[in-house]
Amino acid sequence: MRAIVITKAGGPGVLRVLERPDPEPTAGEVRVRVELAGLNFADVMARMGLYPDAPKLPCTVGYEVSGVIDRVGAGVEGLAEGDRVLALTRFGGQASVVCATAAQVRRLPAKMTLEQAAALPVTYLTAFHILHRVARVRRGARVLVHGAGGGVGVAAVQLLKREPEIEIFGTASPSKHDFLRELGVHHPIDYRSQDYVAEVRRLTGGRGVDLILDPLGGPDWTRGYELLAPAGHLCTFGFANMRAGTTRSLGRIVSQLVRVPRWSPMKLMDDNKAVSGVNMGHLWGELELLGDEIDELLRLFDAGHISPIIDSVFAFEEAAAAHLRLEERKNAGKVLLRA
Ligand SMILES: NC(=O)c1ccc[n+]([C@@H]2O[C@H](COP(=O)([O-])OP(=O)(O)OC[C@H]3O[C@@H](n4cnc5c(N)ncnc54)[C@H](OP(=O)(O)O)[C@@H]3O)[C@@H](O)[C@H]2O)c1
Repeated sequence: MRAIVITKAGGPGVLRVLERPDPEPTAGEVRVRVELAGLNFADVMARMGLYPDAPKLPCTVGYEVSGVIDRVGAGVEGLAEGDRVLALTRFGGQASVVCATAAQVRRLPAKMTLEQAAALPVTYLTAFHILHRVARVRRGARVLVHGAGGGVGVAAVQLLKREPEIEIFGTASPSKHDFLRELGVHHPIDYRSQDYVAEVRRLTGGRGVDLILDPLGGPDWTRGYELLAPAGHLCTFGFANMRAGTTRSLGRIVSQLVRVPRWSPMKLMDDNKAVSGVNMGHLWGELELLGDEIDELLRLFDAGHISPIIDSVFAFEEAAAAHLRLEERKNAGKVLLRA
């Protein structure tokens, strides 16, 4: 098989496509001939040496694939050779052949393409988990989504559009604002040329928002907390601010870490605010919980409520360009890798 290997921490040039022996499925597993693998921001952080959860280098990362089952291990029921599937992987998904336990695999609805299938797991599970399990978003809420044009952002906006009377504020580069308006964001905000805190305050008559989805981290967590309306909720789920260029910078890391806020339970109580955190990677083993969520997402897809948006598809050999697309914040929707 072919696998995208992060040979060492560094810029996109450290990525190589290497030959590896095909894995064999053990009992309870199926083997998937991968058609497409999802690329996530975490993969970029892993390449830069900024993702503590990543396997030891050199390694192959990748949380999600779509493809066709070509071998079924002993004891597997309900899945068969030739089935079109998606699979959750941690890690090793960015390879042309992967094995996964049957519980991490789902057959695709007939109308779902393999592109849509590879684009769904990480982004929609993250957004769904935050909105419906952790924050329990409710009718009439005002919600600020950072990185609204990225993979998770688009998924969050589509899921929010199903809820009644939600008002959506989304930060993004100006080139994505038309795309976001079409998607249903009421207030796209150019965080690069504008202070998003001041703009949200202006738009809400000073009240702030009920829920913030923040994968930025560092000082933005403090700013978000201040921007919450009474009984508001800040969900932290990433630290994109940790990086500035394409390689790791110790100065940048330290300057961000020292600005991470520390809230005491007393302060949260007195302020009537909630702060939560989500790391889906650490839930990847919680197959019952994730299984319920992925099944619900597949139902929502079948009913036409969500539809993954693909920004671009790169061949494995173009993995460096795919990483750059994310790093340069150019993607509107999901970036995929074709095996
Ligand atoms: N905790 C979890 O379980 C979990 C799961 C999935 C993703 N995440 C996190 O969620 C974030 C979004 O993931 P994704 O896969 O949707 O990424 P993505 O497709 O690359 O989208 C992220 C978008 O955020 C915007 N952005 C704003 N500030 C940024 C910054 N400092 N660095 C990079 N991008 C910035 C960029 O667009 P504009 O400049 O146009 O706004 C970018 O396109 C990442 O931080 C990721 O690590 C966490």
